[in-house]
Amino acid sequence: MSDADRVKSNKAYGQIGLSIAVYEDSPEVNAFSSKHDLTFDGKLKLDKEEQRGYALFRGKGMCHRCHISNGKQALFTDFTFDNLGIPKNPENPAYIVDPDFVDPGLGGFLMSAGYPEEVYESEWGKQKVPTLRNVDLRPYEAFVKAYGHNGYFKTIEGIVHFYNTRDVKDECPGDYTEAESLAADCWPAPEVADNVNTDELGDLGLTPDEEAAIVAFLKTLSDGFVP
Ligand code: HEC
Repeated sequence: MSDADRVKSNKAYGQIGLSIAVYEDSPEVNAFSSKHDLTFDGKLKLDKEEQRGYALFRGKGMCHRCHISNGKQALFTDFTFDNLGIPKNPENPAYIVDPDFVDPGLGGFLMSAGYPEEVYESEWGKQKVPTLRNVDLRPYEAFVKAYGHNGYFKTIEGIVHFYNTRDVKDECPGDYTEAESLAADCWPAPEVADNVNTDELGDLGLTPDEEAAIVAFLKTLSDGFVP
């Protein structure tokens, strides 16, 4: 590519980025019309289990520490990065290309951007805290979603159970999928073992009822709720 064409192409990419940012900022993406949002105009209440889940989300579950949930139009993220120790997803096509593939997250980005080791080392394996808005929204009920940066989790129940028991269960003897891990009552080793957060997750002591309540609350975050 000539220098002049490169300038043009970079400019076009910049403009594409800006268009996406404007769209993401628009009411079409941020409708704030979930059941949770509708409780703020006082016309609607969460049911008992959903309310219990919200309280656990902010309390014992510690979810709120990263997925900030304060008041009206909360975004359910603090925009920071963390390594939750999510296992490799053996079903991810990246492993067909390279069986040893590992996603170093923010650390990998910083390394490729030329930052020194003392900067990127402590960020190795950290992924951005995503919003939890619309976490259960799907085009039809049987549609399978994938959660986490590598899609390891296919169910919200599974990821909540992982937060609760990551450090309690034995390590699976291989690269088990979510379904295989749940069936064998174990969790595989983290995809990236560096900088795994052990302060805020891994052994929450939630009962099965409490896990279910958190899941029920997360399901109130889907836009387009019709009372
Ligand atoms: C220490 C910060 C932190 C805490 C505490 C935390 N999360 Fe997360 N959460 C994250 C990060 C970071 C990711 C992305 C992880 C990845 O992709 O590897 C994530 C991802 C998720 C996802 C997947 C979303 C998606 O679209 O893929 C769900 C669901 C979720 N968290 C729910 C919870 C719940 C429920 C709790 C409390 C039991 C909780 N989180 C506590 C940081 C946190």
